[in-house]
Amino acid sequence: IPVEPFDYVVFGGTGDLAERKLLPALYHRQLDGQITEPTRIIGASRSALSHEEYRKFADAALKEYLKKDEYQEEQVKTFLNRLFYISVDAKSDQGWDKLKALLDEGKERVRAFYLAVAPGIFGDISEKIRDHKLITKSTRIVVEKPIGRDLASALELNDTIGKVFREDQIFRIDHYLGKETVQNLMALRFANALYEPLWNAQYIDHIQISVAESVGLESRAGYYDKAGALRDMVQNHILQLLCLVAMEVPPSMNAEAVRDEKLKVLRALKPINEGNVEKMTVRGQYKAGASAGGPVKGYLEELEGGVSNTETFVAIKAEINNWRWAGVPFYIRTGKRLAARMSEIVITFKPIPHSIFDESAGRIGQNQLIIRLQPDEGVKQSLMIKDPGQGGMRLRNVSLDMTFAEAFNARSADAYERLLLDVIRNNQTLFMRRDEVEAAWKWVDPILKAWDGVGQQPQSYTAGTWGPSQAIALIERDGRTWHEVI
Ligand code: BG6
Repeated sequence: IPVEPFDYVVFGGTGDLAERKLLPALYHRQLDGQITEPTRIIGASRSALSHEEYRKFADAALKEYLKKDEYQEEQVKTFLNRLFYISVDAKSDQGWDKLKALLDEGKERVRAFYLAVAPGIFGDISEKIRDHKLITKSTRIVVEKPIGRDLASALELNDTIGKVFREDQIFRIDHYLGKETVQNLMALRFANALYEPLWNAQYIDHIQISVAESVGLESRAGYYDKAGALRDMVQNHILQLLCLVAMEVPPSMNAEAVRDEKLKVLRALKPINEGNVEKMTVRGQYKAGASAGGPVKGYLEELEGGVSNTETFVAIKAEINNWRWAGVPFYIRTGKRLAARMSEIVITFKPIPHSIFDESAGRIGQNQLIIRLQPDEGVKQSLMIKDPGQGGMRLRNVSLDMTFAEAFNARSADAYERLLLDVIRNNQTLFMRRDEVEAAWKWVDPILKAWDGVGQQPQSYTAGTWGPSQAIALIERDGRTWHEVI
């Protein structure tokens, strides 16, 4: 469905995120017929570029990040024509009048400001937007993580933006919520009668959430070494996934309804502190190894500085203190330079209470529901059946397997495509509310402090493996194993 015309101002318009994600995503929405005239996209940053030079920059980005058949001459031409560029300085008044003049040409349109810049200047930009009177009736602001590096800085950042914008104008992006399969998780849970009655401690044994990456530091040492895997992936993406898996059924898909339920999950997470941190968490850091068939450097060698105890891997046994989930562990793990790029959520059901089959039937496996986020997005349900090829009653574990690409023969949209236009539609369902971000930090902060307090160092793991052996021990101690990826 096409959205009404808008002006998107992208601060950090010449940066990595704009180049790799935002410009290609907006182009795709145009290709899908969702953008109406006279929509404009306005790049803004400190560099002195002309509109024409910015169009060249965007053209190069599209060439680089689109597939060949997606780069269609006529469409690209139309897209480039909607691009403009203004050089502004967050710290001074330079350029802001020009931005105002350009925006005033479209006063009636929805206006969105995307802050694809370092959080250190969120406050400065917000104030300039206010001082130069750029806020109209239908203005929204979009911010990217990191929203703080602990609870105190998150509160401060939220306060800073909150001085200029109302909560309903602030869209905090967590791009995992825009992923197709993540939204499918809600469809699966709430559009089927099958699962919800079983979705609790009585029938579920445990849940695993794995977000594995094969890449290393890429060129982000400056940011990453100060963050580490817990802040970079768990505080936001993984906790958001956990919320969608664990939340109560919201009364509707309304933004407040969904976010109220997610918030309750975050608030019910069992605290991890100095008393239990060593039992419940594993930190890891990769050393030299192999990835994609070639040798790769270790984290410290990539850093060049050489010394760091930042974790590039983390595994946690999380628990939710409420009626639905009491006693059901949520094992989560994420890391860089792991054996594959793979993200999945695995729900393992309890064993059957009693077997009527004799030993020759074989072992009866526990049912698993596997939601695969990437790559090869899809859903698998494992079931025990009688092996048709064998005489007698031999049981086998098989999967009902639905890979979306095969089932729908359609391109799976990038997370940003959906989210960027949800901002225009004024739909906050897939964005994080202030209290959610803060509740997530309230759980993460004590873990960071506890690591410091007890001196818990990252365990080293070889690049290209599934992380330190301690992460395997974390789950095997409980008589369970990580779901093996084939
Ligand atoms: C980002 C993290 O938020 O998510 C990166 O900062 C990480 O470190 C990325 O690589 C992973 O996103 P995706 O969509 O590639 O799984």
